Amino acid sequence: MERTLVLLKPDCVQRRLMGRTIGRFEDKGLNIVAMKMLQVTPELARQHYAEHVEKPFYPGLEEFITGAPVVAMIIEGLDAIQVVRNLLGATSGLKAEPGTIRGDFSGSQQMNLVHASDGPESAQREQELYFSAGEICSYEPTLSAWLKAADE
Ligand code: CMP
Repeated sequence: MERTLVLLKPDCVQRRLMGRTIGRFEDKGLNIVAMKMLQVTPELARQHYAEHVEKPFYPGLEEFITGAPVVAMIIEGLDAIQVVRNLLGATSGLKAEPGTIRGDFSGSQQMNLVHASDGPESAQREQELYFSAGEICSYEPTLSAWLKAADE
């Protein structure tokens, strides 16, 4: 089992796409083990997007990500990091394949609706940025036996 950090970005919240987006993760059989709405501060934005702070698009990205609330989630499942990224599609909504969340709902590089960790190290770092250990609710979904074989 793997865990990844997912953010429903301000465009997802403002466009009333939260329910449908969360539904994609649930439909896939992934398990949401933590979730909260919050306002990202400029300081948190700089920590989250540390690798992008020097890039030309960063000022616009910070204005966007702090411009309305986000919903942060920790999502758990087999290969959850890659499986979630596959559900999102390519970074730019202009390039993402139809059938993916961004491919179906976004036509923008910046306003791409959802963020997800891109590897095990960022997943750990980002989970700790948004959640304390006590906010994570580990549980066994009653549907588990019908989502995958016992030895998977
Ligand atoms: P995300 O997956 O959250 O990681 C970095 C974010 O920066 C990305 O999604 C987009 O929201 C944004 N981004 C990436 N590339 C560009 C770009 N060229 N111009 C504007 N925003 C970008």
